[in-house]
Amino acid sequence: MKINLAVFISGRGSNLQSIIDSISRGELPLDLKIVISDNREAYGLKRARKAGIEARYVNPGAHDSEKGYEQQILTLLKEREIKIVALAGFMRLLSPYFLEQFSGEVMNIHPSLLPAFRGLHAQKQALEYGVKVSGCTVHFVDEGMDTGPIILQESVPVYDDDDEDSLAARILKKEHQIYPQALKLYATGRLQKKGRRVKILPEKK
Ligand code: GAR
Repeated sequence: MKINLAVFISGRGSNLQSIIDSISRGELPLDLKIVISDNREAYGLKRARKAGIEARYVNPGAHDSEKGYEQQILTLLKEREIKIVALAGFMRLLSPYFLEQFSGEVMNIHPSLLPAFRGLHAQKQALEYGVKVSGCTVHFVDEGMDTGPIILQESVPVYDDDDEDSLAARILKKEHQIYPQALKLYATGRLQKKGRRVKILPEKK
């Protein structure tokens, strides 16, 4: 039986699309049960519906507390027996409460080579710092912001004439490759966590 996946988004959803496409090509043995957004207008919700996947806007403003909001999400996950959550441009920090209550794994993708340039506008931070190489990181989520154990990274060059958009576009192409790859490694039981280090086990014959 396939493992149930949920993807959380806040906007465009191009990483979500790469996951949907990878599943529909039969390359990713996960069952994408639900897409959750904290933004009603997120284009990713349309992408999900178009692919026939349940897409839910969960309104943070409808709750008095962060805990109430996260509880609503936890209930949706539990009802659908979700084992893995992929954050794909989800612009909220999940609380320790959420991570404690959710019994599965949570992954995130971030547009920098962590631990450099955590948080918002990572590509802008990279340009301003003047690095010559940047990239993207898929990592397990812990209680910090972009601090969890690293699963995969991919690098891209930074050119003298780059602006935030051109660098973001170059990184995004790599994001669309490594997120489905990392999820596949998880789905096929090839990720072994030991403290901060994530070992990639050989393919099972
Ligand atoms: C992606 O570049 C993702 O790495 C980034 O937001 C973008 C979402 O694009 N995430 C973060 O910056 C999280 N800190 P998408 O909605 O098209 O997938």
